[in-house]
Amino acid sequence: MNQAVPFDRVAESLLAFWAEAGVDAMLHDTPVDRIEAGKFVPATPPEKKPLAAPPPQQPRAGAGPDVAGAIAQARQLAAAAGDLEALKAAIAGFDGCSLKFEGARQAVFGRGAADAPLLVIGEGPGPEEDARGEPFVGRAGQLLDRMLAGAGLSGRVFITNTVFWRPPGNRPLSAQEQAVCQPFVERAIELISPKMLLLVGAPSAKAMLKRDEGILSMRGRWFEWRSESGNLELPAMPTLHPAFLLRQPAAKKKAWSDLLTLTERLDRPDRGA
Ligand code: URA
Repeated sequence: MNQAVPFDRVAESLLAFWAEAGVDAMLHDTPVDRIEAGKFVPATPPEKKPLAAPPPQQPRAGAGPDVAGAIAQARQLAAAAGDLEALKAAIAGFDGCSLKFEGARQAVFGRGAADAPLLVIGEGPGPEEDARGEPFVGRAGQLLDRMLAGAGLSGRVFITNTVFWRPPGNRPLSAQEQAVCQPFVERAIELISPKMLLLVGAPSAKAMLKRDEGILSMRGRWFEWRSESGNLELPAMPTLHPAFLLRQPAAKKKAWSDLLTLTERLDRPDRGA
């Protein structure tokens, strides 16, 4: 006999099928103007000071005036955060990144040891991170954790991203989205004071090092990361993103070799300066 399947079972199974296929966001056919709708409040432009010197970071060409305001506001909030908890709260309260109003459930800041010698910086939260409020907790994050553990780095890392809200549908990040979050990333580096940075994936490496090179040519090499103010400098190594490694397992060998090179320097008594 042909029995009708209850609608909720059909819907549940269809949703599971979509989730398995990677569909993780519902987008409208037409864009929604969040500013018009009153949800996205562009940050107040910075106060004009009678200084001849330019501000430390200018909005990039075509970025729009609110980006400069948002960066200035992010800098102020970040500077006022005296520890990682305060920084996390400052990020959660920051309205200057439009990703916050594009369907993200919450801000995702970081996890790990507050005094870690290694800071790992990924691209941005995915669906699992968005749901749980912690970075790198999905399949890619589990692989990252296994690799860090294999290299003896468990408990010696703090993990964060270049942006703190999930891009809808995991679309690529814009330079503006990364730029407005950058002051918070820099403040995290100041507060944690790590010995070095591991930049995971091309969007992280390009944004942090301000280089437009492919990840395959940057990975495994040492670069000098410099803060916007120029006050902080740290050795930084780009490597392949674990999500890429899940798709291309043959590339794991390269990422593993990068991690061993980094660990060797991290554990060297003079740190190979
Ligand atoms: N990919 C990232 O770059 N960061 C995360 O937090 C999760 C996946």
